Amino acid sequence: MSDRDFVLDSDPEEFRRAGHAAIDWVADYLEQIRDRRVLSNVEPGEIARRFDDTPPATGRPFDDLLAAFDRDVMPGVTHWNHPRFFAYFSITGSRAGILGELLSAALNVNGMLWRTSPSATELETKVLDWVRSMLGLPEGLFGIINDTASINTFLALAAAREALGLEIRDKGMTGRALPRLRVYCSDQAHSSVDKGALALGFGTAGIVRVPSDDAFRMDVDALEKRIAEDRAKDAVPCAIVATLGTTSTAAVDPLRRIAAVAKRENAWLHVDAAYGGPSALVDEYREIFDGVEDADSIVVNPHKWLFTPVDCSILYTKRPEVLKRTFSLVPDYLQTTESDVINYMDYGLQLGRRFRAIKLWMVLSHYGTERIRAAIASHVAHASRLADELRAMNDIEIVAPPSMSVVVFRRVVRDTDGAVDEDASERASTELVDAINASGKAFVSHTRLRGRYAIRVAIGNGAVVWDDLDALLGLIRG
Ligand SMILES: Cc1ncc(COP(=O)(O)O)c(C=O)c1O
Repeated sequence: MSDRDFVLDSDPEEFRRAGHAAIDWVADYLEQIRDRRVLSNVEPGEIARRFDDTPPATGRPFDDLLAAFDRDVMPGVTHWNHPRFFAYFSITGSRAGILGELLSAALNVNGMLWRTSPSATELETKVLDWVRSMLGLPEGLFGIINDTASINTFLALAAAREALGLEIRDKGMTGRALPRLRVYCSDQAHSSVDKGALALGFGTAGIVRVPSDDAFRMDVDALEKRIAEDRAKDAVPCAIVATLGTTSTAAVDPLRRIAAVAKRENAWLHVDAAYGGPSALVDEYREIFDGVEDADSIVVNPHKWLFTPVDCSILYTKRPEVLKRTFSLVPDYLQTTESDVINYMDYGLQLGRRFRAIKLWMVLSHYGTERIRAAIASHVAHASRLADELRAMNDIEIVAPPSMSVVVFRRVVRDTDGAVDEDASERASTELVDAINASGKAFVSHTRLRGRYAIRVAIGNGAVVWDDLDALLGLIRG
């Protein structure tokens, strides 16, 4: 080395030692996770105060940092890995997924072009085809991994708009008369549909929330009626979003009927199976994708219910050429000469792309489809048993048909005539949620259905066993 050389990492042996210690830390953390509070109970600002206002001028050894991590970071962590994390969708990691993340961080490749790392591109294409076939999706779908379902739905809606042939890419959306475009989804669809549509300029007036039926599934008659009304006012249906596994209750929209409407109306059909997609692995939900051959795009999140650490969301489409037409823009410095390769940067907004396929490959290869299926089947069985136990309680009402691994209920308070006191029921239910979460022993979240507050339990952790649900029942019984 010359006097002018400077090497950032000066002690490779320190890295090896600290790396082993970090893996030991992770192994202990996962083994002992049930001893921790699920929901962090720090006060706002408490964690920030533990850190200096400026970065250190001179560095500290890794050992020191691991100790500081334990002391100053861990108290403010809510443990998404905890088997009694039942809130939201318990975004599930796994040991295989953690190792996949480690390897991908080590390689630090940027898979924007095929040549910037052929393995990143080719493994992505391969594992997405594995997931496609595991879930029984049609052959020949193009797949791409992005960070979240929100981004994938945004990309799908952008492609839907491009597919209308209104030359928006060339002429923009101002200065000429464009038809009023509509995106339809049920009143139970995830807010990411609205966000994507808003970002694309559909406006709130362009987003139509179609009523759902008693089981919170899209009412297809209402969809058809609304489209007819909109057409009469010269509005154009651009996209219809069907959700398979809604956020609040895991309801499954009637895909085949919705697909027929989309086909007739020449609207893009986007399927949001972000959470529910993996349920197709188990017998009870094998049919949820019935009708999917007519979908233009489908989103499935391995970071929700396929044991892959956040972030990893798959967008499938049978019309990759439309996605490419929407987003491809190749400056001179990114031109390459290879033919017959996928340059994934052409199919979305971002240029730089993490090597996420490696963790998905690791998860699918380490556990194999049978173990993954068994884990998901156990979640579905636990949910159904939990619903039975709750039904047997006098002061609990199940407020949506239990579906997949989600159970939604509320505490009911009755007046002397036996009629439900809505205000008192809401108070009792929020108090129950607060008590469960304050205990640190479990974490549940809430939703609102037809105006009523409801408690929501979603099961999805790879380590969850019935004892964990039994502990939750104990907290509910008080
Ligand atoms: C049905 C559904 N779609 C989309 C999303 C958005 O997911 P992401 O966090 O990957 O953007 C969620 C989040 O919970 C969801 O439940």
